[in-house]
Amino acid sequence: MNFAVLASGNGTNLQAIIKAIKGKQIKATLRVVLSDKPNAFALDRARKAGVPVVTHLLPKNFSTRELFDQAVVDLLKKEAVDFVVLAGYMRILSPLFIEAYRDKILNIHPALLPAFKGANAIKEAFHYGVKVTGVTAHLVDENIDNGPIIAQAAVEIRPNDTLDMVTERIHETEHTLYPYAISLFVRGKVKVVGRRVMG
Ligand code: GRF
Repeated sequence: MNFAVLASGNGTNLQAIIKAIKGKQIKATLRVVLSDKPNAFALDRARKAGVPVVTHLLPKNFSTRELFDQAVVDLLKKEAVDFVVLAGYMRILSPLFIEAYRDKILNIHPALLPAFKGANAIKEAFHYGVKVTGVTAHLVDENIDNGPIIAQAAVEIRPNDTLDMVTERIHETEHTLYPYAISLFVRGKVKVVGRRVMG
């Protein structure tokens, strides 16, 4: 199986995925790493790891979100990508993208969904005062942070924790949970029945 990682930023999850491929936890080929940001550090990581196709597309060169997404999908199809992993990709996918890879797009979210959806999940959970937050790996559907859940892991927030400490623990947890969720998918263990993912 071939897959693509889409990333806009630092790419620490991408790095964890690359490590899991090398360690044979994920038995699939990372064929494409694509960004909407030409300077995303994720692209440097991908080049260093020798990913065959490392590229970016600039949203400002497309008049609509759909045209941008169509160009991404065209590239992924051309490279025979079977499934797509979002790793800090800061764009909402249009329905045409979701349809092109229905139940084959994975995302990692830094909270226990359905709590704290959106872009500031760690901070919002911290300031809300929850005692347990965590990480969710899920499939992507048309609604934001909404698709069927593949795996979750809890992260405790202790009374003397700072936001930085919690953020670090969340990221560490992502780096084990996401490769695990991807490996389940690759092994055909992600079967969607309604909202539920069965093994
Ligand atoms: C992660 O916290 C992930 O949960 C969120 O975006 C962040 C990406 O970090 N979706 P990185 O680029 O993988 O370091």
